[in-house]
Amino acid sequence: MRTARIEVSLTSGDDKSYEIVVRDGILGELVERLPRLADASSLFVVTDTTVSRLYGRKLKAELAEAFRSVELVSLPPGEANKNIEAAWALAAKLNRLGADRESSVLALGGGVVGDLAGFVASIYKRGIDHYQLPTTLLSQVDSSIGGKTGVDAPWGKNQIGTFHQPKGVLTDPLVLRTLPREEIMNGVAEIVKCAVVADKRMFDKLSKLVGTETRIPNEIIVDACRIKAALVSKDEREADLRSVLNYGHTVGHAIEGASDYKMGHGACVILGMIAEGWIALRLGILRRDDFERQSQLLLRLSMRPETEAANLNKDALLRFALADKKSSSSTIRMSLPAELGRMHTTKDGSHRIPVSSEIFKQSIDHLIGVLSSN
Ligand SMILES: NC(=O)c1ccc[n+]([C@@H]2O[C@H](COP(=O)([O-])OP(=O)(O)OC[C@H]3O[C@@H](n4cnc5c(N)ncnc54)[C@H](O)[C@@H]3O)[C@@H](O)[C@H]2O)c1
Repeated sequence: MRTARIEVSLTSGDDKSYEIVVRDGILGELVERLPRLADASSLFVVTDTTVSRLYGRKLKAELAEAFRSVELVSLPPGEANKNIEAAWALAAKLNRLGADRESSVLALGGGVVGDLAGFVASIYKRGIDHYQLPTTLLSQVDSSIGGKTGVDAPWGKNQIGTFHQPKGVLTDPLVLRTLPREEIMNGVAEIVKCAVVADKRMFDKLSKLVGTETRIPNEIIVDACRIKAALVSKDEREADLRSVLNYGHTVGHAIEGASDYKMGHGACVILGMIAEGWIALRLGILRRDDFERQSQLLLRLSMRPETEAANLNKDALLRFALADKKSSSSTIRMSLPAELGRMHTTKDGSHRIPVSSEIFKQSIDHLIGVLSSN
């Protein structure tokens, strides 16, 4: 396949800009792709045990032939292991294995590995280089790009973290062949979000694809990477514009939290976009025909609508939304679409629109209604 290169050019400093390279089989070409690292004192491939078994050991063997010192560090998989204790243990392991300021971390895995390894790279000896080698669809189109790193805390997800841009992102779509369907759905939800937020043509492509194809074409992965890269380039620290990427996530996170994280992230973001799309319609921001088109696509993606509807409690969801870090004080703020491919901007240029508790709860009523009749 052709190679796609996407530049993340950060205005806060050229030395922080980097490239995302998307190419089938790129994981087997790292020796040629990362020649600069041959001089690095040591490389640390940080992964989880599942990805290690599938790709990590082979990658380590290949790198070890060309680079001076290569270590493979495998962590237990899953969100439950993305915490400060795991970060501490990883830093201690790097220290034991002799990592110094010239060392580089290669984060090989999904968003959990990427966030955790990126976080440790950002604080180990006040910061060492890291590269993202994303292996889930979600990490390829979302978490590997933009430099948000971190771990979960007992009081919430991603509450401890840093901005630490990677030196590069090397994305191999071939590894998605081993990814379970539910994990693919997590990425599909973020892809649909990208299209609604910034690219009507991509939305049209997705409308034809969803339900007919099981594999996401590389072209769509590249489209989503471009959108995220462009937004991050303009607003690295999420002062405002980057917040449009939170579309669907205020209600989505509330549903995920209220389900005690039993529901998949992707399924929750899909429901979140249905509810938040309705809020945009209710506030007179989103056109009805675009709202209908979005709802039709999202409902095709929702997997167990009746069970999902039965588990939604609007008062519990409101409590979660008010406690969410993306809402300040007692007002819920969310980014909402004006039309497919464009987000609404307020008169004072903000992308965060205040939404009353009443409208929030009505959006859950709407969601329960459409899920029950689907
Ligand atoms: N930093 C950001 O900007 C950002 C953005 C979105 C999400 N996130 C974070 O990303 C995390 C979720 O990431 P995720 O959805 O990638 O989940 P994940 O990292 O937990 O990976 C999901 C599962 O898939 C397995 N896996 C990974 N690659 C595989 C492959 N190619 N084949 C088979 N199995 C594979 C993993 O071992 C794991 O069990 C969350 O912690 C979330 O907070 C971060």
